[in-house]
Amino acid sequence: MSFDRSIKIAPSILSADFADFGREIRAIEDQGADWVHVDVMDNHFVPNLTFGPQAVKAFRRHVQTVMDVHLMIAPVDPSIAAYADAGADILTAHVEAGPHIHRTLQAIRAAGMKAGVALNPGTPAEAVAHVLDLADLVLVMTVNPGFGGQKFIDLTGKVRQLRAMIGDRPVHIEIDGGVDPTTAPIVAGAGADVLVAGSAVFRGGSVDAPQVYGDNIRAIRAAAAQASRAA
Ligand code: DX5
Ligand code: ZN
Repeated sequence: MSFDRSIKIAPSILSADFADFGREIRAIEDQGADWVHVDVMDNHFVPNLTFGPQAVKAFRRHVQTVMDVHLMIAPVDPSIAAYADAGADILTAHVEAGPHIHRTLQAIRAAGMKAGVALNPGTPAEAVAHVLDLADLVLVMTVNPGFGGQKFIDLTGKVRQLRAMIGDRPVHIEIDGGVDPTTAPIVAGAGADVLVAGSAVFRGGSVDAPQVYGDNIRAIRAAAAQASRAA
């Protein structure tokens, strides 16, 4: 996985058919997804429950791009080995999930994965200031985590601030929540390069009508790429 700041679209399978993950993953990759975003929720850190390491390991067999695993769980550290074994390429933990994000990011890298650090909408950019050398990605939540299909919260100032803090470091800025062709240019223009989208990718399509996923992915990418070039 080489580093670059081109726009990457990461469909969230939280919006896929939960009884058909294998075909859904293959469909979004066939239709141009750059990464596959996997939302792990524990009904404790967030008020929703999705899947655990065994399911994620089963998804791995279908992912040919990058498996981007977003942990919305607390605590994180006892589960790191299980997600490494499941085959996560990137493992992202929330800074709000515990008191030791520094240790958590070190442990993720030590387990052989890229390390991501996520910020809830109410958490300031400064919260990651001292871990940027331990991170490969900063995930900025633009909804409160837990559910797909929520309204985008405009945090342009925070994204710009993070972009400046990151400087020349090879650290991605990923945006998660409410990304669609109207909001993608806002965050791309502020310096984000990875755009997670659940409802805006899966809306209107299915494994039997996958070209709709492709149309949706292309619409988000085109809107973002234009703003990213102009930035
Ligand atoms: C929310 C998840 C997101 C979610 C985004 O807690 O982290 O990845 O799937 O869904 P949309 O794109 O529908 O806001
Ligand atoms: Zn997510």
